[in-house]
Amino acid sequence: MELRKFVYQWLLNEKILGEKTIEIVGTISLDKMDKKTKDRQMDTKDGHLSEGNKHLSEGDKHLSEGDKHLSEGNKHLSEGNRQESMKDRQLGGIDTQKEVRPQITALNKLVLGCKKCDLHTRRNKLVFGNGNPESSIVFIGEAPGREEDESGLPFVGSAGKQLTSMLKSVGIDRDAVYITNIIKCRPPGNRDPLPAEMNSCFEWLDKQLEIIAPKLICTLGKHSTFSLLGHVKPLEFHQTLSISKFRGKIYEYKGIKVVPTYHPAALLYHPEWKEATISDLTMVKKMLDRV
Ligand code: URA
Repeated sequence: MELRKFVYQWLLNEKILGEKTIEIVGTISLDKMDKKTKDRQMDTKDGHLSEGNKHLSEGDKHLSEGDKHLSEGNKHLSEGNRQESMKDRQLGGIDTQKEVRPQITALNKLVLGCKKCDLHTRRNKLVFGNGNPESSIVFIGEAPGREEDESGLPFVGSAGKQLTSMLKSVGIDRDAVYITNIIKCRPPGNRDPLPAEMNSCFEWLDKQLEIIAPKLICTLGKHSTFSLLGHVKPLEFHQTLSISKFRGKIYEYKGIKVVPTYHPAALLYHPEWKEATISDLTMVKKMLDRV
């Protein structure tokens, strides 16, 4: 059987994909799918950068030429092995052999002093992220709103209630996962984050991901999706792209699988998107059960 069909059939058999055709953009590291233990994803900082560049030059192939996924997939398999062999290395100041929680706390303290953009001047509280930093999954939202700015916790307002109930409906316990945002300080009046703000804050998210080393990321809404995937492959005019074209498919960021879905706040205005969101989160839950 042609390898692509075989892989697709395997994904169906393993119930990672549903019957509907899901276009897989980016590659799936098949070697990592069956891992039961949560081995930590390692690389040096420079390694990440060169991997990023590889993705940049390979990005268009992923989008346009389905068959190339196969040979790209093999590259990723050997890349996976390389990452395994670098397991014990120290990354840009983060010793991945150390406990996750103290490292996350130390990073939180560091970010408290961040003045990389003006948002820190207006915020009440930094909203760094919360939940279980030892989780295999990280949910990434956009930016804190009023309630989050007051409490210092992500997704505690109406969007947060929506998120909690959607997670619950697919069997994911909110307290068992880690939740953060692309932007750690509230943009005034809940305006959209500016590209410059997302770029300057991205370093902190990237460090969170290095420490937590999740197997899966679920991006909530277009800002987090395009900001994260924009670091893998340039997404031109990404602000104007539609999340509906990206959701429910599997991407990769530094070897971590990424599944974008709608932002829970958007569901308050577009209840017709709930069904698709539940379908995306159901897929996320299935993938989570396998790591
Ligand atoms: N919306 C977000 O994207 N993040 C929050 O923390 C709250 C609302």
